[in-house]
Amino acid sequence: MRSVLSSVAVAATIVGGALGAQAATISISCGAVGLELQLCQEGAQAWAEQTGNQVKVISTPNSATERLALYQQMLAANSADIDVFQIDVIWPGILASHFIDLSEHIPEDQVSQHFPAIVENNTVDGVLVAMPWFTDAGILYYRQDLLEKYGKEPPTTWQELTETAKEIQDGERADGNQKMLGFVFQARAYEGLTCDALEWIASYGGGTIVDEEGAITVNNEKAAQALDLAATWIGSIAPEGVLNYTEEEARGVFQSGNAVFMRNWPYAWALGNADDSAVKGKIAVSTLPKGGADGKHTATLGGWQLAVSKYSANAEIAADLVAYLTSADEQKRRAIEGSYNPTIPALYEDQEVLEAVPFFGELYDTFVNAVARPSKVTGIKYNQVSSEFFNAAHDVLSGKASGADRLAELESSLDHLSRGGRW
Ligand code: GLC
Repeated sequence: MRSVLSSVAVAATIVGGALGAQAATISISCGAVGLELQLCQEGAQAWAEQTGNQVKVISTPNSATERLALYQQMLAANSADIDVFQIDVIWPGILASHFIDLSEHIPEDQVSQHFPAIVENNTVDGVLVAMPWFTDAGILYYRQDLLEKYGKEPPTTWQELTETAKEIQDGERADGNQKMLGFVFQARAYEGLTCDALEWIASYGGGTIVDEEGAITVNNEKAAQALDLAATWIGSIAPEGVLNYTEEEARGVFQSGNAVFMRNWPYAWALGNADDSAVKGKIAVSTLPKGGADGKHTATLGGWQLAVSKYSANAEIAADLVAYLTSADEQKRRAIEGSYNPTIPALYEDQEVLEAVPFFGELYDTFVNAVARPSKVTGIKYNQVSSEFFNAAHDVLSGKASGADRLAELESSLDHLSRGGRW
């Protein structure tokens, strides 16, 4: 079969020694956000050395939206190019039919070490389509040194963040740093904006776009209020350019010392404190602000899993690689080196992990109570729901429409998509 991979620009690295007689080359798609690719290569290398197999590590686009499109193209062609897929927490329902049942390959006592909610999320019609690899939740990064300089506490509401960000931004600009920005986050029209906007809306009590029963709830006053406030940030505490930021653009600005606040995932911690970071030792994290006095601190649940393709010529060996990479030892290494959240609760009590990433302990509740995007109830339509939602949020942020008007429009497109809420 023609290789789908050869038609797209992806970088591949082979790790492992010479192949033994019974050995195979397993290819794995890994993310490349922050330290992901490096950690994936190191883990794959260790497994290759232990088993005598080789691993081809293939890097995939940073944007989850683009990555899904690439996977769908490959899987629809029944391509055997990739054996192990790194999949987003929102994709089991969309991609389930292409993956093997890992419960037939990975012992039950290894599976049950993980957060039950993630295992359940990854189980579709009784089939364990993916093993949890790392979990994610949105958090607020801030410049501790600057908050101290201006006598501020980390903000508890979005309104407070808006004001503190403006005051410090303006003060620092007057002090000579013209590049200083108040707040950076993810506002490109892609999956990351769905995560950020869901946090704003849910923190105002505006729900989760579609509720657990499938009802479309997004067209409400609180949701509109949340989006309208976020729209005021553009060109004020956030640059116009934020409308094209993903995680890595936001991290780049914050890490070079030019932002007071940043919304990002935990991976930015290890990099922000690395030797080459301009803000090393000057940053701290907290839960994201809430919508108002009666709002609720809300983080969107993210995270990545490993799945084995049904079209793999070496499914058994590929499943062994998945068992290795998702094991407690490997998750501990990734937590310490890259601040990737383990999916194994016991690791949140591990002293070495907590020393490397203290907020894994302090913000434990944030991680376990993070709010899921409506991927379970909307099933294979989730990606369309998310696209409709992030495009609506992007329009409001860009000043093309008010929150109320655009959410009314969104409600009718979601209603059409679901054929009256029946998903
Ligand atoms: C992070 C999350 C993932 C989410 C993505 C959006 O990678 O782990 O769940 O979809 O960000 O950009």
